[in-house]
Amino acid sequence: MEKDSAKIEKEKQLAALAAVTYIQDGQVIGLGSGSTVYYAIQEIGKLVQNGLQIKAIPTSHKTQFLAESLNIPLIDSNSVDSIDVTIDGADEFNEDLVLIKGGGGALLREKIVASMTRKKIIIADSSKKTDKLGLKFKLPIEVIPFASNLVINQLKELGGIPKIRQQTGKEFLTDQGNWILDTDFGHIEDPYSLSTSLNEIVGLVCHGIFINLADIIVLGKDETTQTITASKIV
Ligand code: 5RP
Repeated sequence: MEKDSAKIEKEKQLAALAAVTYIQDGQVIGLGSGSTVYYAIQEIGKLVQNGLQIKAIPTSHKTQFLAESLNIPLIDSNSVDSIDVTIDGADEFNEDLVLIKGGGGALLREKIVASMTRKKIIIADSSKKTDKLGLKFKLPIEVIPFASNLVINQLKELGGIPKIRQQTGKEFLTDQGNWILDTDFGHIEDPYSLSTSLNEIVGLVCHGIFINLADIIVLGKDETTQTITASKIV
């Protein structure tokens, strides 16, 4: 067990270091959230200390505080029209580069930042690759608390089993003050049609299915990395 978690940490680190090599001087960088991106942000901090000139946009308060502690210059998301490169993590992904995200609850800002980005890089350890999206990981869905009952009922009609995410005995709050419904859809065979149906629910702010929001996946695999682009492993 301990050996497994050490292997996973190593894979996360390797993927993060490989992804950071895509960053160039003068670029605007999107900083994702989570324990894999943590390693990338640490590395970017070192590069900035050694003279790399970038401006970054964080996808969560947690990422913002980490970047600030490393003196990575941050800018407002509304101060630019596009982002050059974003490095983010994922909870699951399949060979079509469809992702499930939101394990850390930062899915809304992550989706916004990804939508603004030209080169979207996802970093992950080998446990995240799957051919059955949703089977192991429940789909995070951000909802306005006022609309939670309405959304819960609609998710049930779509065949989901939603559960309000809890943290220390209370509802988990996103950076926007919303709730997360971790929703069990079993194996999500058609993420495209589920995504379309979810997008139509009033009061549902964002769901964790990310389609066309990954250009490259850098996957840690044992002692090395694999780069996956749509239907291709390099
Ligand atoms: C947060 C996310 C993260 O990218 C996702 O949960 C992966 O996190 P980790 O790298 O810790 O496994 O979507 O909302």
